[in-house]
Amino acid sequence: MWIIANWKMQGNVGALRTFCEGLIPLMATLHHIRVAVCVPFPYLLLARDLLQGTTILLGAQDISPLENGPHTGDVSAAMVQDVGASCVILGHSERRRDHGEGCSLIHQKALSAKAHGLMPILCVGDAEGQAQSVITRQVRRALGNDGIAGAMIAYEPLWAIGTGKAADEATIAKMHRHIKSIAPNHPVLYGGSVTADNVAAIVKIPEVSGVLVGGASVRLETFAPLLLAVDKARAPASPESGPH
Ligand code: PGA
Repeated sequence: MWIIANWKMQGNVGALRTFCEGLIPLMATLHHIRVAVCVPFPYLLLARDLLQGTTILLGAQDISPLENGPHTGDVSAAMVQDVGASCVILGHSERRRDHGEGCSLIHQKALSAKAHGLMPILCVGDAEGQAQSVITRQVRRALGNDGIAGAMIAYEPLWAIGTGKAADEATIAKMHRHIKSIAPNHPVLYGGSVTADNVAAIVKIPEVSGVLVGGASVRLETFAPLLLAVDKARAPASPESGPH
């Protein structure tokens, strides 16, 4: 079960050190989860050094679709791979909103990520009241005609991001089944107000392969109980706890 921490534009050097110092020993006790931490670009190298030798993966939150060259302010897939990232969040609704990113750009970024050995985490999401066809189009266009082998898809309804109102389990199951019907070979994550309190129910939904966590992932006080809750939810039931 994947848990992807999306720090967004939050944190600093001190917070990253404290976070990793607590996360590393905790992860050594958990056996049913895989964790990736996606930090802002300036912290990738430090995070790489802090997480070295652990099972915790490092991710970026965006890349340029371009290879190299005179593109002031942009960061390439090769660069984030060079500083230790193994995955990258692409097409997050905050980038679609703040930077006008569209589906074909997101597809180009996914191709560049793949070419440099980064696992793309392709975000799709619907606004309140939008038809399912919005998700169909976003998934198809992000994957393109030839597909993006190995990509994960994150379903993040816009109204659930940062609002404290996660989608209900029936909606998550329905939307994940829909995405799986279009992209059967891709793990589908859920994102949007995931917390330690609601995560166990979410990861028990059969179509859910993991969660993408924003607000609750930035401090260990909220992230550690979330990890513990998922690990417990995914652990095989012990014989004593079953019916006799
Ligand atoms: P949230 O963000 O957990 O703060 O709702 C999730 C996301 O945007 O990935």
